[in-house]
Amino acid sequence: MLRPKHKNLPPKVRTIPIIGGLLKFLKGPIQMARDEYEKLGPVFTCKVLTRNITFLLGPEVSEHFFKAPESEMSQKEVYKFNVPTFGPEVVFAVDYPIRVEQYRFFMEALKVSKLKGYVDAMVEEAEAFTSKWGDEGVIDIKAELEHLIILTASRCLLGVEVRKHLFGEVSQLIYDLDQGMVPISVLFPYLPIAVHRKRDAARKRLEEIFGGIIEKRKKSGIEENDMLQSFIDSKYKSDGRPTTHGEVTGLLIAALFGGQHTSSITSAWLGAYLMTQPKVLALAQQEQLKIMEKHGETLNHDVICEMNYLARAMKETLRMHPPLVMLLRYSHKDFDVEVRGKKYTIPKGHVTAVSPSIAGRLPTVYSNPDSFDPDRFKPGREEDKKAGTYSFIPFGGGRHGCLGETFAYMQIRTIYSVILRNFDFEIVGSFPETEWNALVVGPVGPIQMKYRRRKLTQADVCADLLPESTV
Ligand code: HEM
Repeated sequence: MLRPKHKNLPPKVRTIPIIGGLLKFLKGPIQMARDEYEKLGPVFTCKVLTRNITFLLGPEVSEHFFKAPESEMSQKEVYKFNVPTFGPEVVFAVDYPIRVEQYRFFMEALKVSKLKGYVDAMVEEAEAFTSKWGDEGVIDIKAELEHLIILTASRCLLGVEVRKHLFGEVSQLIYDLDQGMVPISVLFPYLPIAVHRKRDAARKRLEEIFGGIIEKRKKSGIEENDMLQSFIDSKYKSDGRPTTHGEVTGLLIAALFGGQHTSSITSAWLGAYLMTQPKVLALAQQEQLKIMEKHGETLNHDVICEMNYLARAMKETLRMHPPLVMLLRYSHKDFDVEVRGKKYTIPKGHVTAVSPSIAGRLPTVYSNPDSFDPDRFKPGREEDKKAGTYSFIPFGGGRHGCLGETFAYMQIRTIYSVILRNFDFEIVGSFPETEWNALVVGPVGPIQMKYRRRKLTQADVCADLLPESTV
């Protein structure tokens, strides 16, 4: 079909015909997008084989991406490679009205009244885990926190049965699912290769395991406070039917995939900043001392909610190192964006992309964007609020903003309050580089941390680094 002539298409990335875009893209889509942003501005199209991908970089051009209804901007086409991992009954495998109901189940499972119980479990897990570190030593904090986050997720999301009795088997199955997601899976998720076969066997076995647990819970009448229970109790509003074993399993897998790598990567970067930015460490320690003065040793949901500096440090970590570097939608209808007085039409059929990595470093939004400054989010400064709604997007936003954001903030603050209160720590080596060549982007290699156990007191805090008001 011919497009009306008056429509002004976005500028195109110049590449060698047919495979040029693919080559540029495979070298690293974010570096490519950063370079093209400099040359072409915030909206441009890159042809990758037969697909047109239009980038919308920055808050002034990304509103439609986040706000448009599913009939105009949808996720299914671009994220359906997850279907064999999550299963045929959930999320991107089902029609939108069903998916909306399933997202409601997530919201229910992650609401504050449930989170309070999860936080108690997070505290127990973090204390038990760090108690095994002994009095001093050197650990790879990245690997350690990854393990702790799996343990916590097992307990709060998958349930006590998995955490206590089936952790080894279920962790191995989740690992097989994870290994079944290789770059080629994005294009050909059903390709008959060994890792896909292992993935499919793992998915099947997980459904058997969860099916067994669900039936046992139903028979015994015992109800737990975890996401599994919440999904078992969920009912579709459309016809009142309860969830099936396959749906519960799929939703749990989706929660793990949404929250596992993202949270462990974020906690690893945050650790690297605490160990290399003495002022950030001093302010985080000072906050713990103030909170301990008020609440004693207690750590629970309400106490953790008071840790505003730690929350800002985590937010700043995510601004600089969002684990999901590119979010995608498929456009079903032409739409216009305006860039500095110039209007472009993005035709239907284009894949559209926003990038939390690029959005987080825009000098038009953030002052000194390459420096780590948690206080840029402090009341009064709030740089992310000044340039438009979609300035801070590591958790996405709009219609499909992350449903696990609060859970992630609680989990990571719990872990670091336990570490800050009980250990002196320093980095061995230098600040890590970024491993761009991954689906979820994190630091390269191990992050070695040297530690010594002690109870945090005022003497441990480097007071010279603190502003008057906090001492
Ligand atoms: C969606 C990031 C933790 C569950 C998203 C999206 C992003 C994101 C960027 C939007 C994707 C898009 O628009 O295409 C993160 C980060 C996390 C995190 C950075 C940790 C630091 C979690 C956790 C859970 C979770 C812990 C569950 C317990 C979800 C779900 C969605 C989602 C269910 C889909 C929402 C929808 O499409 O309506 N997350 N996430 N996430 N996340 Fe998270």
